[in-house]
Amino acid sequence: MEVIEVLRMKEGTGQTSYANNSLLQKQVINMTMPIAQAAIINVYCNMNPTTRTMCMADLGCSSGPNTLFVMYELVRTIYETRDKSGSQSLEFQVYLNDLPKNDFNTIFKSLSGSIEKMGTGLGPCFIMGAPGSFYGRLFPSKTLHFVYSSYSLMWLSQVPKGIENNKGNIYIGSTSPPSVIDAYYRQFKSDFNTFLNCRSEEVLSGGNMVLTILGRESEDQSSREGYYIWELLAMVLNQMVSEGIIEEGKMDTFNIPQYTPSPGEVKLEVEKEGSFIINSLEVSQVDWSASAKGFSTNPIRENEGYDLAECMRAVAEPMLANHFGESIIDNVFRRYSDILSDRMAKEDPKFYNVTIVMVKK
Ligand SMILES: C[S@@+](CC[C@H](N)C(=O)[O-])C[C@H]1O[C@@H](n2cnc3c(N)ncnc32)[C@H](O)[C@@H]1O
Repeated sequence: MEVIEVLRMKEGTGQTSYANNSLLQKQVINMTMPIAQAAIINVYCNMNPTTRTMCMADLGCSSGPNTLFVMYELVRTIYETRDKSGSQSLEFQVYLNDLPKNDFNTIFKSLSGSIEKMGTGLGPCFIMGAPGSFYGRLFPSKTLHFVYSSYSLMWLSQVPKGIENNKGNIYIGSTSPPSVIDAYYRQFKSDFNTFLNCRSEEVLSGGNMVLTILGRESEDQSSREGYYIWELLAMVLNQMVSEGIIEEGKMDTFNIPQYTPSPGEVKLEVEKEGSFIINSLEVSQVDWSASAKGFSTNPIRENEGYDLAECMRAVAEPMLANHFGESIIDNVFRRYSDILSDRMAKEDPKFYNVTIVMVKK
């Protein structure tokens, strides 16, 4: 599976689109926004006074309301700071990056309204698409003041090699041999190092990066925190194998190109690569129920499993459909919704977010 070909969030603005099913990711953006705001104010206050344009990038921006919300909030933060300090006006160059198959059309179609919004009192803001993998160079040398990324860097550049013995799993799972966990971790280390290398060329000295990565709180690589959500999807697929709906061979060759790192693992790679100084590193949590839309007149608990399944569908459907075919998708997510509802009624599962702020040396 070529990740660059198949990894994308569900396009458009329809019922199953990422745009309509990314409330959980929005909650993470909201929770970590004060960290990003403090970092961008820090960059602004330390910028060369003759600089007239601040360049920033959102890496793995996807498409939908979250995409423009992030950049709007960051630009607004600078304008408020500037108003208070009475400093000179500033122009913004904003790059929205994602893989080439991301639905950039939906972003740019929705832009006219947002530009107007940004125009009222916020000043000139030039928004550009930057399609490509963030595991390669995306921008000219020493041009970026600020880099932001939320819930994107857990995606790997490829499925790790040497995980053929991970039978019955689609990611790390409770039955994964240690060699599988190690293969995923090695891929993460290599990818994250490449990412840091590329950004170290592009970010100006003193520029900041704020990255939030879906990860773990525990330093234990076999902790369920990082893989529980995928293990439950594997359970659905295995059920469908046993009913003859999915071929066993197909199940054995489906693997999620993701790694959910711990804070210690992130820190180690940044320190090893050496181009950035860590300003802060923290872990936050978000309940699985954060994806609940709450439209039901019943207590929303009933809908939580369904909404989380829809959120996961918006993330995983393109990959699953590419591997297993479109025809099983509704069936998969109906079953997944039931399992998620059951688990959420009995347990209190959470996603863990590792947020790191770093400054370019
Ligand atoms: C879960 S979405 C997060 C979107 C948005 N930041 C948010 O918080 O709602 C992850 C995004 O990362 C993108 N992505 C994954 N790997 C990437 C890569 N190597 N280069 C650029 N984008 C990537 C995916 O295509 C996807 O749009």
